[in-house]
Amino acid sequence: MSAIIKTSEEIEKMRVAGKLAADVLTMIGPYVKKGVTTDELNTICHDYIVNEQQAIPAPLNYGHPPFPKSICTSVNHCICHGIPSDKKLKDGDVINIDVTVIKDGYHGDTSKMFTVGKPTIMAERLSRVTQECLYKAIKEVKPGMTLGDIGHICQTHAEAHNYSIVREYCGHGIGASFHEEPQIVHYGKPGTGDVLEAGMCFTIEPMVNAGKRYSKILPDQWTVVTKDRSLSAQWEHTLLVTEDGVEVLTLRDEEDLPRVISHS
Ligand code: MF3
Ligand code: CO
Ligand code: CO
Repeated sequence: MSAIIKTSEEIEKMRVAGKLAADVLTMIGPYVKKGVTTDELNTICHDYIVNEQQAIPAPLNYGHPPFPKSICTSVNHCICHGIPSDKKLKDGDVINIDVTVIKDGYHGDTSKMFTVGKPTIMAERLSRVTQECLYKAIKEVKPGMTLGDIGHICQTHAEAHNYSIVREYCGHGIGASFHEEPQIVHYGKPGTGDVLEAGMCFTIEPMVNAGKRYSKILPDQWTVVTKDRSLSAQWEHTLLVTEDGVEVLTLRDEEDLPRVISHS
């Protein structure tokens, strides 16, 4: 197990970073409307993170080639890593906004689905089931749980609704680095893989497709879309494993989920 166990000082910084990332998603909600461009949403988030939060947007210049924007905006059949652009949102679009901030050297990473105008029944159901995958997995997190248990919970719930789990992208350890070990895949077998320990921080971020699970990367080398152009949804939280359960570091007030879950 090569996951980094966080000290109490690091955990305090992860709480701060997590809260800031959550606040960005709450802040941007009212701007996600028909006619806005994803680049306008990017600018609003960037300015809020830099000027109001005095934090750093982690995606900007991350990776190879460097990601060109401060948030990811993944619309409709885009699975993840969508690049904000001058394209306007239109009625019925569904969009994942993924925010990662760095504060005092530590990362908070979270994403949610927004709908523009009235979503189709299909889009609403896909988004709800994907959030349920995340919540069901979070509710079981505690020391002794395995990574296979997390994957199995997500996969079972998605497949029970005839949806598919994306396999090429996954959750991850997080802390002083954006992406740390271990990888948290969203499919798997119970009781297999690394065992969770108190002090680990990681994300769960299931990507669920209405059609087949296969993805492809666009020529911009970032944007990931479904191969069959089916709709895709994603929700993400950053978590801390506690002595007897889990703390949701990126929880928003609107959510019907406890911030601290204790299993003792
Ligand atoms: N926030 C994404 C994640 O959940 C990673 C985005 S990498 C970027 O891991 F460069 F596209 F921002
Ligand atoms: Co992540
Ligand atoms: Co993210």
